[in-house]
Amino acid sequence: MVGELLTIGEISKRSGVAASALRFYEDRGLIESERAGSGHRRYRRSVLRRIAFIVFAQRVGLTLDEIASELADLPADRVPTRADWAALSSRWAGRIDERIAELERLKAGLAECIGCGCLSLDRCRLANPEDRAGQGGTGPRFWIEGRPNLHSAP
Ligand code: FES
Repeated sequence: MVGELLTIGEISKRSGVAASALRFYEDRGLIESERAGSGHRRYRRSVLRRIAFIVFAQRVGLTLDEIASELADLPADRVPTRADWAALSSRWAGRIDERIAELERLKAGLAECIGCGCLSLDRCRLANPEDRAGQGGTGPRFWIEGRPNLHSAP
């Protein structure tokens, strides 16, 4: 079972990723296939784990170049072991924690001022007077870096 080769349709069905996306991943060097005698792509079953990693890495916010760089640290000449994946995931903990914190702020602040510069809510005047949040950079600053403690403001 481990050594069997699967067609792109089988990999697509099991991973939930469209065949076109699988071909794109392969063109980007993120996954590899072997060619059957017919010239059709055949994949090792272990590629499913790489695909799952790619899908979730994108959800965490990594670009394809970043994902390629992460995957480049996995062994190319053999199926990655549990230890290989553990080494990779240890570098991920901080990134995932950051993403969780962002999502918590998003969840908590949908109806509040998010520091985006629009000044369109009745709360913006208090939370973000004259768009001071914009001094910290672009985008919804309170989602990106959290809301300042209004009670400590002078
Ligand atoms: S919601 Fe946009 S600045 Fe307050």
